[in-house]
Amino acid sequence: MRRPLRTAALGIGLLGLVLVGCCRFLLPDRYAVNAPLRQILFGRGIDPPSPARLDERLRVPDGFHFTRYAEGLPNARLLRFTPAGDLLVSQPRAGRVVLLAPDRDGDGRSDETRVVLEGLNRPHGLDLHDGWLYVAETDAIGRVRFDAGTGRAQGAFERVVTGIPGGENHFTRTLRFGPDGAMYVSVGSSCNVCIEKDARRAAMLRFQPDGSGAEIYATGLRNAVGFDWQPGTGKLYATDNGRDLLGDDFPPCELNEIRPGAFYGWPFANGNRVPDPDFGAGHEAQIAASAPPVHEFRAHNAPLGMTFVRAAGAPPGLQGAALVALHGSWNRTRKDGYRVVSLHWRDDGTIEERDFMTGFERDGDVIGRPVDVAQGPDGAFYVSDDYSGSIYRVAPGEARSVAQNDAATPPRSAQPFPLAALPVKEAKGRSEHGETLFEETGCWRCHVVGRTQDGVVVVPLAHLSQRYSIDELAAYLAAPTPPMPVFALSNEERYDLAVYLLGSRP
Ligand code: HEC
Repeated sequence: MRRPLRTAALGIGLLGLVLVGCCRFLLPDRYAVNAPLRQILFGRGIDPPSPARLDERLRVPDGFHFTRYAEGLPNARLLRFTPAGDLLVSQPRAGRVVLLAPDRDGDGRSDETRVVLEGLNRPHGLDLHDGWLYVAETDAIGRVRFDAGTGRAQGAFERVVTGIPGGENHFTRTLRFGPDGAMYVSVGSSCNVCIEKDARRAAMLRFQPDGSGAEIYATGLRNAVGFDWQPGTGKLYATDNGRDLLGDDFPPCELNEIRPGAFYGWPFANGNRVPDPDFGAGHEAQIAASAPPVHEFRAHNAPLGMTFVRAAGAPPGLQGAALVALHGSWNRTRKDGYRVVSLHWRDDGTIEERDFMTGFERDGDVIGRPVDVAQGPDGAFYVSDDYSGSIYRVAPGEARSVAQNDAATPPRSAQPFPLAALPVKEAKGRSEHGETLFEETGCWRCHVVGRTQDGVVVVPLAHLSQRYSIDELAAYLAAPTPPMPVFALSNEERYDLAVYLLGSRP
């Protein structure tokens, strides 16, 4: 599965390099590839931007401020709050679900990150129901007993649905329980535009919580990554990404109101029943019977996760609104999207789109790609970014600077930098020895992006000094958390490795 995907990604990436680099003006718009190249080429984003860069770039509405709630979560995707205020985050590429403990010390940052589940096949959608944590893998739905009080999973992860068509394009699955107690799962198309062989692709599925009673709930949805039920009306709304390769400004991305049995146009029509140039001919009747979007986002904006504003005490301007994460374009000569917007239902039934969090892209430079938005029990909004591996928290209140915020409450507040006590000369010698060990022992096989073999999940080492002293890190290496293997090293060697790592990955 991984190799063809990677080859395809590499192909697109190289095409992108060629198009962006030299021939953009010779080829029609529709083939424009203009995405953050690191992400297409290496499937990886950037290191977390510095606090100063965040302050300079990101903007939220007046009356709100933002902090970086957590970082170091590569490929952070969908979000779900537990009743205890822990935030669950899926990381499909790492195969895991992590939990961010609430911010009890009031510094605007999660107090702890902990792995809840790992070893899953591209876990993406998450929801809690009846004491279970449900997770949608690319081709299955599984669940595990989850104790919200302790924030820990118990017992085995059991798959209640298997054989969902997985992989290919749009391999992520979103899962959410509806007000009717049933489980809704969206399955994106296998391609940009095509006739699917499996009717469960480009569709919304519905199951009973035990996995029984599978039905196709709605069709013609190319990739409906985000969906939620509107409080009050109970109507189900879903985002949908329009197809690629038809130019910069067509087709629009969509918000659809999902009704049972309805067909939403793909692949025969785009936007408001506009016949598709490749697949529309001969399908006039289906196009006429298709449900048009209730709102059009700009082309290629890639709306992903959405959530209605629920918690009591939402600022007046946001009551009744929905927040939508726009992941941003790749098939567009000028980048667009890369922001969080709010949708407001007007009395006449139309929907107004307003900016909520912007600045992830400026003049083509990208520092983040929003994926999902969740509202915490504290009323604040949490935004995942799979490009820098960060979670942002946007809350009502006075503007506050991330740089000042982080400086005022450094994560290891009381402790000095772990290497500070070591004489410079000794630190240098030990660090060099540590680097040699890192190379010779093969630590890089699992920890250095770009040097790993196919199939190995990379665990980038970062921000170690915020969590370990030299002795603590040496102790970790003596008894690492599985699946990190134990190596036959002396105490001295582990100490030198720790010095090297703390100095090189502070
Ligand atoms: C076969 C793959 C593999 C190799 C080889 C490996 N590690 Fe790891 N390492 C891991 C994994 C996986 C984790 C994450 C464990 C977890 O889930 O917490 C990890 C975690 C770590 C951590 C903790 C990271 C953190 O953020 O807290 C450190 C430090 C570390 N490894 C150092 C090393 C060093 C030094 C070596 C070489 C002596 C090494 N590793 C070799 C797989 C590996």
